[in-house]
Amino acid sequence: MLIQKPIHLFQKYALPYWKSLSFLAFFVIAHSILSLINPHIVKFFIDTAVGGGAFSKLLQAAVLFFTIALFTQLFTICSTFVGKKVSWKSTNILRTDLVSHCLKLKIQDHHKQNPGDLTERIDGDVTALSNFFSNFFVTILNNVLILLGILIVFYVEDWKIGVLFTAFTFAVFLIINKFRGYAAPHFMKARKIAEETYGFTEEKINGLISIQKSGATAHMMNKLNVLLKNKLLTERKALMTATASHSITMLTFSLGTVLALGMGTYLFMKGTITIGSIYLIYTYSQMLRVPIEQISLQFEDLQRSSASMERIISLLSTKTETTKGEKSNFCHQAPTIEFKNITFAYEQNQNILHNLSFKVKSGEVLAIIGRTGCGKSTIARLLTRLFEHQQGDIFINGNKIQSYSIASIRNNVAYVTQELELIHGTIRENIALWDEKITDEQIKTAFKQLTIWEWFERQPKGLDTPLDKNTLSAGEAQLIGLTRVFLKKPQVIILDEATANLDIATEKLVMEALKKLLNGRTAFIIAHRLKTLYYADSIMMLEEGKLLEQGLRENLEKNPLSHYNQLLSKGMEEQLA
Ligand SMILES: Nc1ncnc2c1ncn2[C@@H]1O[C@H](COP(=O)(O)OP(=O)(O)O)[C@@H](O)[C@H]1O
Ligand SMILES: [Mg+2]
Repeated sequence: MLIQKPIHLFQKYALPYWKSLSFLAFFVIAHSILSLINPHIVKFFIDTAVGGGAFSKLLQAAVLFFTIALFTQLFTICSTFVGKKVSWKSTNILRTDLVSHCLKLKIQDHHKQNPGDLTERIDGDVTALSNFFSNFFVTILNNVLILLGILIVFYVEDWKIGVLFTAFTFAVFLIINKFRGYAAPHFMKARKIAEETYGFTEEKINGLISIQKSGATAHMMNKLNVLLKNKLLTERKALMTATASHSITMLTFSLGTVLALGMGTYLFMKGTITIGSIYLIYTYSQMLRVPIEQISLQFEDLQRSSASMERIISLLSTKTETTKGEKSNFCHQAPTIEFKNITFAYEQNQNILHNLSFKVKSGEVLAIIGRTGCGKSTIARLLTRLFEHQQGDIFINGNKIQSYSIASIRNNVAYVTQELELIHGTIRENIALWDEKITDEQIKTAFKQLTIWEWFERQPKGLDTPLDKNTLSAGEAQLIGLTRVFLKKPQVIILDEATANLDIATEKLVMEALKKLLNGRTAFIIAHRLKTLYYADSIMMLEEGKLLEQGLRENLEKNPLSHYNQLLSKGMEEQLA
């Protein structure tokens, strides 16, 4: 989804609700017309009363006054209801789109942003935008109408009052906008600091254990203190500037009241207007305040939401996985996999894989060995499309990897690492990941086969026990990760040091259980231990992202000149560490 301009944002998210928007406009405009009428009724009332008019006339005026007031309030309620509905409906879709977009972002892009910033953008910016969607046009239209209505009434009463208040209105707009401008940058700064504080807290909560382990708690508290102090200072400054400019506006409006009463009395003395007209002029001079403030406020909001819009647009325009691929049916059998002249770099110009080519036949188990940092996990990340290679091609059953949909790849290529990513949920949810085909019985059998039955028996609520990563040992976490693959039976399996945290005896049991699973599937085993490699048909050795050697395990073992053979004789674990 690529959104380039704010107007597209409005078209896509607010315009579909044009019917509700029209209703909103109707309620708002009806409300403003009615609110302009009532002062006239009071004027009539006063003049009739002062002139000794009939009681029935006064009563009629009072009833009319109340009826109009009733409808005015009714329209206010309706417009609030419709307005909120439009703003929530439209922005909820935007929120959902943003979240699903973020979930599809390339891992590369996720690394660039911290979660707090993203949360603030999805929530804060969208809220700022919701006002723009539902309110801006309607409020501006409404208030311009009220303003014009008031000025026209002034001109009708006496042209001098009309001219005076037209000039007054312009002056107030100028003053308000001059002073509003002062507070805005302070508020921007305060918002930025709030964002930073969110980001900081989120990041540090995630890294709580390392912070405590390294004894950096005091340092972190200190940093948080500085951030909070900064937040306080900027927010205080913003609020003080805003209050000062508000006071100036209020003073200006008081001047308006003085003008209205002064002019009214002067004209009354001269006999040009009635006492009811003085009331009218006074009331309308008070009524001027709302539209003037509302119009300025809306333009201020527009500025704020345009900043939000820009940030939302920039997020939405961050490309997700470059090529999506159409093929949703992955191969039904274990595929052949071929890397052809693959070159890949995480950072520009720092190639991690250099022109790497290799082929794994259907159902073959390939062990990838090499020193830490030589690019073994990178191969797995390219194969699961967590990252995108820059040159060369990866073929799955002869088709380019990009031709498969991301979902079909993620469903059929299992990547088991040392790090277990858990979701907030029960053991069942964490193992089956909402796959309804996986039964409780199957999960329990897998636990037995993968030697974590004892652990499972200790869980108080069985499969319904919430799973907490912090209570798992590294070995248990690995076994849980392996259980997932064991049950899912994907066509391609990548075990990336997936048994490294198990003791040798447990690893042997687990590998025996996995052997059945690996049988008939294309698999990659990245491992340090020699014994684990016995489950592989062939071996590939990497050195600094380049292919050093590839061949059938048995052949390499027999060949005294092979690197693999030398590794075995020198002690592989020490050599590869
Ligand atoms: N997300 C990343 N950004 C930048 N460099 C990375 C990233 N992940 C890994 N690397 C670098 O790429 C190289 C290969 O990493 P990796 O494939 O994880 O090695 P290993 O063979 O140990 O699995 C290492 O030098 C590592 O520092
Ligand atoms: Mg690795």
